[in-house]
Amino acid sequence: MNYYFITGTSRGIGNALVSCLQENSENHVTGISRTSLPDMAGYDHVSLDLTDIEAVADFKFATLKDAKKIVLINNAGAISEIKPLGRLDNNQLVRDFHVNLVAPAVLMNNFIEAYTSYDAEKIVVNISSGAGKNPVDGWSTYCASKAGLDMLTRVADKEAGMGRYNGFRILSIAPGIVDTQMQQEIRTSNEADFSRIAEFENYKESGKLADAEAVARKYLYLIDHQKKAPGVVFSINDL
Ligand SMILES: NC(=O)c1ccc[n+]([C@@H]2O[C@H](COP(=O)([O-])OP(=O)(O)OC[C@H]3O[C@@H](n4cnc5c(N)ncnc54)[C@H](OP(=O)(O)O)[C@@H]3O)[C@@H](O)[C@H]2O)c1
Repeated sequence: MNYYFITGTSRGIGNALVSCLQENSENHVTGISRTSLPDMAGYDHVSLDLTDIEAVADFKFATLKDAKKIVLINNAGAISEIKPLGRLDNNQLVRDFHVNLVAPAVLMNNFIEAYTSYDAEKIVVNISSGAGKNPVDGWSTYCASKAGLDMLTRVADKEAGMGRYNGFRILSIAPGIVDTQMQQEIRTSNEADFSRIAEFENYKESGKLADAEAVARKYLYLIDHQKKAPGVVFSINDL
């Protein structure tokens, strides 16, 4: 069996990953988000708020039978407030760091501990963003947390290469710009808080946003063909 643990499965890219994985009965997905999905064949849902770090730390990666492949996809992400520093709500700022960076780090830590002794293919994919490489005004928390996710990945890759743990592949992959609720939320901003709003409105109007299912398929192809990865931190569009 191939076991996938995916955060943020209630909509967007995470939901598309679940739909694609359901095409193969050898795949089992454990999905994690606040909004539940109905029970489906090959899918279990765990309702968890990733801002609640104690609950995240308590999440137990299950003992797995006949595992050929075990995958953690840290997909959930939040860009709750688009405003310059000085006008951000501190509680919201902390919550976004938790969802985008702290929860993925805790889940990676527990995932590696849980499955290090398993003789299966083991992969962690962190869904990052171009915003982790380039500063975007109004997105300070989002950019900084995604940059942190990229560095977390690079350190884990270094440790894996040094043989610190047994046979894990760790990647941080940005999805490009994708037609999901996150893009809708970005478009509700305004020019005073975010200078590039017109550009993002234009992405939607001119059909430049990628389809979530097409993007999900690229991630799953890469998980099955890891030799095609051009590095440790990259964009899915670099394939
Ligand atoms: N869309 C883009 O253009 C784009 C570009 C670059 C990077 N990304 C990255 O791609 C990933 C997926 O984004 P998307 O566009 O698919 O976003 P989306 O449609 O807004 O979906 C976000 C998912 O994250 C979950 N989530 C958010 N806050 C959570 C919390 N506190 N606890 C648990 N789950 C939470 C949501 O579930 P609940 O609300 O049900 O909890 C939802 O399932 C994110 O990491 C995002 O940063 C997206």
